[in-house]
Amino acid sequence: MENIDKIKAHYGFTAKDAMNLKGLFPLMEPFSRNFVEGFYDHVRHFEDTSKFLKDEETIKRHQDALVMWFAALFSGEYDKGYFKELERVGMVHVDIGLSAHYVNAAMHFVRRYIMDVLKNAVKDPRECVYLSGSIDKILDINLDVFTSSYIEEEKRIRFLSYRVESYLIQFARRFSYGLNLMLVLSLVVVGIIVIGLFVYDFAHIFDGDIEKGLLSTLGSLLMLWVVIELMDTEIHHLRGGKFAIKVFLSVALVAVIRKILVTSLYHGEVGAQLSLVAAVAVLGAVYWLVAKVDK
Ligand code: HEM
Repeated sequence: MENIDKIKAHYGFTAKDAMNLKGLFPLMEPFSRNFVEGFYDHVRHFEDTSKFLKDEETIKRHQDALVMWFAALFSGEYDKGYFKELERVGMVHVDIGLSAHYVNAAMHFVRRYIMDVLKNAVKDPRECVYLSGSIDKILDINLDVFTSSYIEEEKRIRFLSYRVESYLIQFARRFSYGLNLMLVLSLVVVGIIVIGLFVYDFAHIFDGDIEKGLLSTLGSLLMLWVVIELMDTEIHHLRGGKFAIKVFLSVALVAVIRKILVTSLYHGEVGAQLSLVAAVAVLGAVYWLVAKVDK
């Protein structure tokens, strides 16, 4: 709760106001039960009243609490205990889901009721205005504390959702980092396998089939180059760099070129080769366009 002295100072509430209110106790206290009746007549018209004041027991408890609250307004003691109690009442209203609007509207009735009692009892207009100033201040302070409970609750909910959100984001970041590390590891494994393939293809040269050996070796070299490219891109990405879409196009290009190399070994596959060449042309054009945009 904001500093009590600060709240009082902001409303210009002084020791004189406290004395004025205490002086009004003998006048106001006998009206407390009548006040509660009027209060209930007023709030009865609110649409949701029956939802909150739902049974005789709750109504009785609320009415007794209102009598005490009304008397405390004129107790002359507005210390830490008084403010703690107001804060508690505010929280009770928040907890039951009572709209702040109803509290404000009810307070409007409270003010009118007390002012009517005052006007009927104090005939000197100047005295009446003077005393009503103190009444206004204490009612405004009450409303301020009640309203703060709603604001505190809203802040708490916002703070909670902010924390949940930041935990989620943190978790997602770590998870994505873990996935990226897994990707690098998988690329290392793929790299080792491609080296094995390169050695295997290279061995064909010594089998006597030099053409097949050379073309296959070239194909596996291209694959090795792709793995290196992919790893470089991934490391760059892990260090916070932009993700290079170009690398995916080069992977596709290399895969098709390798296929061309392999199919060129078999005669009579002209149709298949032509479509592969067309695919290289299309991929090459897209690669060129992306490279141009990147620049
Ligand atoms: C100036 C306006 C109001 C004041 C000063 C006030 C005062 C109080 C007080 C002193 C309590 C007792 C808190 C406790 O000790 O547990 C209370 C509780 C409650 N108030 Fe109000 N009230 C106001 C407006 C309203 C309105 C407009 C409604 C409903 C339409 C309402 C419904 C309730 C309910 C349901 C409880 C809980 C009762 C229980 O279960 O014990 N109040 N209020």
